[in-house]
Amino acid sequence: MARITASVYTSHVPAIGAAIDLGKTQEPYWQPLFKGYEFSKQWMKDNKPDVIFLVCNDHATAFSLDMIPTFAIGTAAEFIPADEGFGPRPVPKVIGHPDLASHIAHSVIQQDFDLTIVNKMEVDHGLTVPLSLMCGEPDAWPCPVIPFAVNVVQYPVPSGQRCFNLGQAIRKAVESYDEDLNVHIWGTGGMSHQLQGARAGLINREWDNAWLDKMIADPAACAATPHIDYVREAGSEGVELVMWLIARGAMQDVADSARSVSVRHRFYHVPASNTAVGHLILENS
Ligand code: DHB
Ligand code: FE
Repeated sequence: MARITASVYTSHVPAIGAAIDLGKTQEPYWQPLFKGYEFSKQWMKDNKPDVIFLVCNDHATAFSLDMIPTFAIGTAAEFIPADEGFGPRPVPKVIGHPDLASHIAHSVIQQDFDLTIVNKMEVDHGLTVPLSLMCGEPDAWPCPVIPFAVNVVQYPVPSGQRCFNLGQAIRKAVESYDEDLNVHIWGTGGMSHQLQGARAGLINREWDNAWLDKMIADPAACAATPHIDYVREAGSEGVELVMWLIARGAMQDVADSARSVSVRHRFYHVPASNTAVGHLILENS
């Protein structure tokens, strides 16, 4: 049987991808940020998963106002890095896992979550930047990746509670897959940032760090946070954090309060472009 052994949470700022691709990671502005991921890259090598289920959002790359799926699962055999205006990032193509993805789609839809099935999709910084942060610059990504896109760009966006519940359904789906696979689930995006309007540039360290505390110890409280709190406290793009709740909902302590998770790594850094970068690694112990 497949099982989820760990979850990873990280911001996805596009400028981080540019810093890697242009060889700027050791510049004074970027060095402290990348230092925070040194542990993570070693952890990925020491704990290599068979599959990553990567919850991310599309930024009007694969989807547009023509079509806005709330939850979309990538079932393709491969996903090509998109051209977001400066040419595609020079990173490996993403190899999918069509069989597990189809199984999860089947199971989760039967558990009453309506997913959009995506058989062809290009992936943007929402997916490739987290992979770069966690895996460095390999010739190929370490394992197959199932992209799971959440609409956090155009309202109405799903509630944190729905995302948390969906994570629980994804855990059940993974655990009902026959093959013995070690699966990691990643929640990406956030933390506080606002890219437009009068409050552009907003960062809220206090709120972000309280959120990290709660994500570890009381994720149900994070799930109960209404959208207006994200927007007020973490800026309009801070609502990307609902994606972290899908990964958190898939951890074992949520299903069974007698079980626990352990924190392997925690990191927070401001600034990276207009965004506060937050990062956690949690393991099912
Ligand atoms: C930035 C952050 C994002 O999450 C994003 O999607 C685009 C830009 C930024 O801080 O520049
Ligand atoms: Fe974003």
